Amino acid sequence: MPLDGQISRRSLLYAGGLGLGLTGLAAVSGCSASSGGHNGHVPGMVQPSDPVVADLEAARSAAGSGATRRFSLTAARTTVNVGGQEAATWAYDGVVPGPELRARAGDRLVIGVRNELPEETTVHWHGIRLRNDMDGVPGHTQDAIAAGASFEYDFIAPDPGTYFFHPHVGLQLDRGLYAPLIIEDPAEPGDYDAEWVVVLDDWLDGIAGDPDGELQRLRRESTGMMGQDSGISYPVHLLCGRPPEDPQVFEARPGARVRIRLINAGSDTTYRVALGEHDLTVTHKDGIPTTPTRTDALLVSMGERYDLLVTLGDGAFPLVASAEEKDGRAYAIVRTSPSAAAPAPEVSLAELSKEVLFAPQLVGDPSYAPRGQEGAAGEPDVAISLQLGIRGRQYEWLLNGKTFEEAEPLTVSQGDVVRVEYFNATHAIHPMHLHGHSFRLVSRGSWHDTVLVGPMASVAAQFVADNPGLWMLHCHNIYHAEAGMMATLGYRA
Ligand code: C2O
Ligand code: CU
Repeated sequence: MPLDGQISRRSLLYAGGLGLGLTGLAAVSGCSASSGGHNGHVPGMVQPSDPVVADLEAARSAAGSGATRRFSLTAARTTVNVGGQEAATWAYDGVVPGPELRARAGDRLVIGVRNELPEETTVHWHGIRLRNDMDGVPGHTQDAIAAGASFEYDFIAPDPGTYFFHPHVGLQLDRGLYAPLIIEDPAEPGDYDAEWVVVLDDWLDGIAGDPDGELQRLRRESTGMMGQDSGISYPVHLLCGRPPEDPQVFEARPGARVRIRLINAGSDTTYRVALGEHDLTVTHKDGIPTTPTRTDALLVSMGERYDLLVTLGDGAFPLVASAEEKDGRAYAIVRTSPSAAAPAPEVSLAELSKEVLFAPQLVGDPSYAPRGQEGAAGEPDVAISLQLGIRGRQYEWLLNGKTFEEAEPLTVSQGDVVRVEYFNATHAIHPMHLHGHSFRLVSRGSWHDTVLVGPMASVAAQFVADNPGLWMLHCHNIYHAEAGMMATLGYRA
């Protein structure tokens, strides 16, 4: 009987070595025949409505800033102009990206969401270590917000950083429903002159069908080749909602130090990002400080965020986000000289093929761990091994050979040091995201809430289970998630 993903820490990489060396590790319940599925109530697990969730929020509030920030959002059908074409889509407040929300670490955010879409929706606050019942997962943490209805999200945002928000229903993220969420650091050293929030997105909605039709096409045309996922050919890639032929221009003075907050809000595209004639210094990943690392280019996968520092030269420079393993790019111009000629959108950048950083290569800042996570580097109490796979003929993406519908929840106990070992047995990139937690990579100690797991690669992560509730763990390729590459992680009651 397979242990459904929970195996010994000594059984590395493959889910094949089952049943070995469980001595000393917590008993596992993932294969229990009596646990009746994962939709709605999950037996034996802490529920979002349990007092422990509210109690923990009270502690966050007591340690917080005391400030409350109120926002409102309306999700509705709209039309946006994408490179001269009118695209009928769904968006927040009629704009793509949606309105940026900004607060400070420790603030309470109260966000009224009105759903004027033709179907139900929710909002998920991606990367925030928030109270479970505000996490925006329908059937798990709340009832979906029906068409025509409203819901008020209300939570403390405990940690500073670059985040974003999006629906957690079907493929709605691949419409225009996404926006930055910036939590400022009250103790920010502020060693920069200007800030630029760069949101990347792969776009097809309203100009080449829509996301639901695209998933049907993928299912119809799936070849059954083992993980040879060529991905979706998007007609256009957007940077802050702008196509390459109508780019955003970021203006600053020569010599300015700029903090770039880079967010990949795409659904099926990893981007390779570089700024012509500049190198970039990574300072934060998924909101959390890293050891500052210089690079020419970096890979940012779906759901990942990078904070970069760059000192600008004199001229006009292309910021290019090239779609990895497919055609197309998103593009913007950085201008410090009014007279310099603008680079062309198709300019070829040497930086893109020099040193290319990606998430597992980052080195953590050894002096920093997110609050409550100081023990994450210790010996694990429980190890969860997840093989990322595909049933190609059905276009089904799998964790340990099962789709979300087929799998039982993964279980941890509060206080456990949890190890999650991913092995990618496909040729696609899978950005693996865990709700409500940040995790530390075992290899080099960097912190993430979403980590790029490359083709045939292994990545091991650890965290302290300190935020009880029902949490989603899934690939942030939203088509992969919708086609099964998703699991529930629950805390034993
Ligand atoms: Cu942005 Cu469940 O994710
Ligand atoms: Cu994936």
